[in-house]
Amino acid sequence: MWNERYAGDEFVYGTEPNVFLAQNSKILTGPVLSLAEGEGRNAVFLAALGLDVLGVDGSAVGLAKAHRLAAARGVTIRTAVADLAVYEPPENSFGAVVSISAHLPSDIRQRLYPLVERALKPGGIILLEAYSHAQLARNTGGPKDPDLLMTCAGLEQAFPHCEPIVSREIEREVVEGKFHTGLASVVQFIARKKA
Ligand SMILES: C[S@@+](CC[C@H](N)C(=O)[O-])C[C@H]1O[C@@H](n2cnc3c(N)ncnc32)[C@H](O)[C@@H]1O
Repeated sequence: MWNERYAGDEFVYGTEPNVFLAQNSKILTGPVLSLAEGEGRNAVFLAALGLDVLGVDGSAVGLAKAHRLAAARGVTIRTAVADLAVYEPPENSFGAVVSISAHLPSDIRQRLYPLVERALKPGGIILLEAYSHAQLARNTGGPKDPDLLMTCAGLEQAFPHCEPIVSREIEREVVEGKFHTGLASVVQFIARKKA
């Protein structure tokens, strides 16, 4: 489904970074692992800040476009085509992990998030934005399956060795490509791994 969505020349989530990520990028250090990177808008933005970024996604078509976007912007990114249901990030390796609109089923999240926490170096940052359950009542994008949506409480539980810095459910105007456009209900989460 994702390879089909990304098949055209258009960047379906745009070429500009997610706004929450851009607003908070100064606290990130590399290497950065970007989960479900898609067509590269976030990885390319972070690479332009001088960060070493590894974007992981199940879509080879999306990641090929990510490399084209990187080349057009004169930066280099690393990518890996992988299913996050089985992906194992290396331990104690990343200064930050970024997860933007990575709406994975809860069983995949339950396996993946402890590995993500383990992959962070002490003091490393997890930064995540995703649609919340309140988004189900809107028609401005995101999955319609409640299992794919997130809560602050769920995220705080999922990262027990991280200290939350931002953990909130808010409404914000999201204008990030044709599938994510309009007033939206989102979870925003930033936490720092305890030393
Ligand atoms: C809504 S897009 C978001 C893309 C990107 N993070 C962004 O903000 O532009 C969701 C992404 O999740 C990826 N994805 C979904 N399930 C996945 C899985 N099990 N393993 C790897 N990637 C997955 C898709 O390929 C897609 O690129």
